[in-house]
Parts: sequence; structure tokens; C-alpha cells
Amino acid sequence: MGMSPRLEEKSRLRRTRALCLPLGMGDNYSWRMLCRLFELEPELVFLFQYNSSHFSEVQDCLRSAEFTEHIRKVMTVIDAAVSSLDSLSSLDEYLTSLGRKHRAVGVKLESFNTVGESLLFALESGLGDAFTSDTREAWSLLYASVVQSMSRGWHRDSQE
Ligand code: HEM
Repeated sequence: MGMSPRLEEKSRLRRTRALCLPLGMGDNYSWRMLCRLFELEPELVFLFQYNSSHFSEVQDCLRSAEFTEHIRKVMTVIDAAVSSLDSLSSLDEYLTSLGRKHRAVGVKLESFNTVGESLLFALESGLGDAFTSDTREAWSLLYASVVQSMSRGWHRDSQE
């Protein structure tokens, strides 16, 4: 991956994650994040169409098990990146292929930023003052690095 977090950024990321865990990183945060996603970009609802469900309303999508599960998948990827801060490039191949898959389901590159903003919103609203501007910067850089690898896969697909 393009960016290597500096030592103090790594410790900020690890510390924030440790703070998140008792608050329910998987549930509390996912919930805030999934609501925020559609506030920022309601049209994303049309991309979350599953065999069993075709949503026309954001509320239906928010209630669906598949969509909730997708937010958990996003959180798992972010968590894997925090666990691999010393070797982010080990995720490169996985993230490249993840980017390719997302192009195939019709996701635009700009929409990855919406997920990033939702993530920062969820962290900020959960952590309050503990989410300092330096911590925000560290998370923002980490997410940018995940998206950089995903974007590479997204572009690769268009050249094939
Ligand atoms: C930008 C908006 C996004 C949309 C509209 C979107 C949509 C989708 C859809 C429709 C699928 C396939 C069905 C499913 O597994 O739910 C999927 C799979 C997945 N997405 Fe996303 N996604 C987005 C962003 C992201 C981001 C930023 C990440 C991670 C950082 C991510 C992680 C995953 C994972 C791990 C899978 C499962 C892939 C697999 O089964 O191999 N998604 N996404």
C-alpha cells in the first residue's frame, strides 16, 4: 500500500481501536455508520440489491440483514488494516481484488469517500473529545490507504 503510517499515527490508531471495543465496534459503530452512509449519498441504496431483496427505500435497505452484514464486512476490512499496520502491503492483493469486485457491482470510485466520511463520523460521534484532530488524521490516512489499493483494482478491471 502507498502510505506507511508513522509511529505516532500507529499508536493513535491502536489506541482509538482499543477505546472503541468496549463501546461495541461491531454494533454501535456499524449502526451509526450505516445510517450516515445514506444521509450522505442516498443513491447508494440502489447498489445494495440482493437476490432476495430489491430496495426502493433507504429504510428497507437499512433493515435488511444483507446490508447490515455488508457494513460489518467494511468494519472487518478496516479492523484488519489496523491489525496489519506494520505490514499493510500484505493486504494489497486482497484489497485490489475487492476493488475489482466493487467496480463489477457498479460502485463509483467517489463513493468510497462517502464510506470513509461515514466511518469518521461514526468514530467521532462515539468517541467525542477522545477523537482529536490528530486521531482523525490518522484514521483518514489509514482509510485513504485502503481505498488506494481498492482503487487500483477498480482501474485494473477497466483496462481488461
Ligand atoms: C462505496 C460504497 C460501497 C458499496 C455500494 C458496496 C457494495 C457492495 C456489494 C453490493 C457487495 C456484494 C454483496 C455483499 O457482500 O454484500 C459488496 C461486497 C463487499 N464489500 Fe462493499 N460496497 C461499498 C464499499 C465497500 C468498502 C469501502 C469496503 C471495505 C473497506 C467494502 C467491503 C466489502 C467486502 C469485504 C465485501 C465482500 C466481498 C466478497 O464477498 O468477496 N465495501 N459490497
